[in-house]
Amino acid sequence: MKELLIELKNSKHTNQPKYQRLAEGIRQAIRNGKVIPGEILPSTRELSHVFKINRHTVMRAFAELVAEGWLIATEKKFYQVTPKLPTDFLKPQKFSVTSNNIFTRKKMKFANNVLLEYSDNKVKPKYSFPSGFPDIREFPMSEFKSHMYDALRNKKNLSYGHPSGSVDLINQIKIYLRRIRGVADRDIIVTNGSQEAIFLIAQLLIKSGDGVAVEALGYPPAIEALRFAGAKLIPIAVDKEGLVVEDLRKQLKKNKIRMIYSTPLHQYPTTVTLTAKRRLELYELCYDNNILILEDDYDHEFHYVSQPVAPLAANDPGGIVLYVSTFSKILFPSARVGFMAVPCELAKEVNKLKRISSRQNEQIIQDGISRWMESGGFEKHLRKMRRLYEERRSNMLEDLVNIKKNIFSDLSWDTPPGGMAFWLNLNQDSSKISEIARQNKIFINPESNYQLDIKAGTHLRIGFSGQTPQENRAGLLALFDLIKKSKG
Ligand SMILES: Cc1ncc(COP(=O)(O)O)c(C=O)c1O
Repeated sequence: MKELLIELKNSKHTNQPKYQRLAEGIRQAIRNGKVIPGEILPSTRELSHVFKINRHTVMRAFAELVAEGWLIATEKKFYQVTPKLPTDFLKPQKFSVTSNNIFTRKKMKFANNVLLEYSDNKVKPKYSFPSGFPDIREFPMSEFKSHMYDALRNKKNLSYGHPSGSVDLINQIKIYLRRIRGVADRDIIVTNGSQEAIFLIAQLLIKSGDGVAVEALGYPPAIEALRFAGAKLIPIAVDKEGLVVEDLRKQLKKNKIRMIYSTPLHQYPTTVTLTAKRRLELYELCYDNNILILEDDYDHEFHYVSQPVAPLAANDPGGIVLYVSTFSKILFPSARVGFMAVPCELAKEVNKLKRISSRQNEQIIQDGISRWMESGGFEKHLRKMRRLYEERRSNMLEDLVNIKKNIFSDLSWDTPPGGMAFWLNLNQDSSKISEIARQNKIFINPESNYQLDIKAGTHLRIGFSGQTPQENRAGLLALFDLIKKSKG
């Protein structure tokens, strides 16, 4: 309804005749970009109807604008904004919101600022080693499509649903968690990725100044969600056995700690699995000190050396573990489906908060996923991807051994027991390398991305899951070629 973007200037403040007021309205719409060069204007009949003025008045306004060069008449008796307007006509207006708005004028402050920058990389990479990305090309879309088709035809999906998510999907998640991960007896809330689960939990349980321990190195968006909620972040070291529980114990002597955020199965970003001894120590320490454990189990099934260790939430007699997980790694991240499995007292509050934030997750995809899970397709895909990623891990291991032997000897790593990435030590500043790589369209995350305070580090996190072994190999060779050249 373009006519609504054109205003007929109010006659109260001017003695101008109507046709001039309409012409000015059109000039203004063109100047501030509401109507763009080349665009066809509504017909004289439409405008006369909308503004309740005579058609001749509209025609007179158009004739004036044609004479001035703003409009041209087309063969079919339409009027079109001149495709190439003289630039003078298009000079920024006094009221352009990009240059003049209350935020700039009044230097308006936000109530709270997110400190983690959003990277909006528009360059298409040649090789990308995203650190935990599934190979979406392997997703069985035609199989999934048929479940989505059924979900689309289900009229129930078009109405509002419960904030906690679709009953069918919740039931499927419960079955899956009990059977595969040993987690039972908790309320499930479906969220927009596990990121939303972390955000909601933080909003409800952290108040300004609360001590929250986080693995450092750690997963930045989760850590930022905790800080944003008011947490005083307390970094806890990680080493080759995972989170250093003794460090947490030490910190407890100096700080009151309400919560710890942890990725025990595959520590993010180092990929280490928390040892059994430390798991027990961590649990006991948290239990004794009433510390909530926010357990982020983001890629559970992708474990290759043995069965994955059950989550802390599977053995939680004190009910202190808040469990979050995601379908982003199994399906595809744009589905935005994650969930939390938490005690019912917390679930009740989360539902209320979700009701006033995103209200609920989108229902059609939830229905599609639950149908797919019920059909067995989900677990079949999971098994296929686990095998595929295990193969890719072996292939990357081989490549790294060759690179170390033939190209770059100053390289070390521990083969990850699971997950989707290697944590590779270059024994030199990896931020610089990652920047050089980025300039050459190779995307790779350096250690500094995972630190609480941006310090240089020597590691790169190299995902092996998102590309084929051939792509990974070609990318690694290109990367190490650059590294060699950068050393001169
Ligand atoms: C450690 C970790 N936690 C949480 C997430 C968030 O996943 P999502 O919000 O896509 O479910 C990711 C995604 O990469 C992750 O790597």
